[in-house]
Amino acid sequence: MKGLFFTFEGGEGVGKTTQLKRAAARLEKEGYHVLTTREPGGTPLAEEIREMLLRPSGENGLHAKTELLLYLAARAQHYYEKILPALEKGSIVLCDRFMDATAAYQGFARGLGLEKVEEMNSWILEGREPDGTVLLYTDIRSGLQRERAVNRLSLEPEDFHARVLEGYLELARRHPGRILALDVTGRTIDEVNRLIMERLRKWM
Ligand SMILES: Nc1ncnc2c1ncn2[C@@H]1O[C@H](COP(=O)(O)OP(=O)(O)O)[C@@H](O)[C@H]1O
Ligand SMILES: [Mg+2]
Repeated sequence: MKGLFFTFEGGEGVGKTTQLKRAAARLEKEGYHVLTTREPGGTPLAEEIREMLLRPSGENGLHAKTELLLYLAARAQHYYEKILPALEKGSIVLCDRFMDATAAYQGFARGLGLEKVEEMNSWILEGREPDGTVLLYTDIRSGLQRERAVNRLSLEPEDFHARVLEGYLELARRHPGRILALDVTGRTIDEVNRLIMERLRKWM
């Protein structure tokens, strides 16, 4: 694979999108070809699945396993239609949420099993994984307060978000080489950007 694949993870409102855009702008300025994308979504079909998953009013009674499979269906399409071809062409791909989100939210917080979801991710990606993952975290309250876009998952109760964070931190412990866990509490956007760029350079 000629390109590099980096993912941005974390709970609601921690600054994933802000930081991904900053990093993309910086790398583009340096002459890299950068593709930014997001999950769920990233292709027309996967964006339709995103709609189903995130509309705040919809899908009452959505079963946890249905939810998981919809995320994975969207991922398979996104990965093979968009991410992998870009990597084969040598691009740097920055993705806003990816496989760790499914492990933390559906595997850990929804209780479907962290290992089970990691195994399903691995099946979909044929064992491939991101070259590096930036996991941003802060105490859940400040994260949720910052989040402006309301969606079905951001509307979950606080203890759900606490479990998501716990799941993410467990993933960071399991994959210390791939995942950089960055506590953004009290840090400015610029400070966080500097720390992320430092690590991206090491991964590159
Ligand atoms: N380090 C930071 N300090 C203060 N505010 C921040 C910081 N990072 C992001 N924000 C603000 O918090 C809000 C949510 O950020 P966003 O990047 O959309 O989070 P996410 O994509 O993780 O949900 C935005 O208004 C953003 O400007
Ligand atoms: Mg975002």
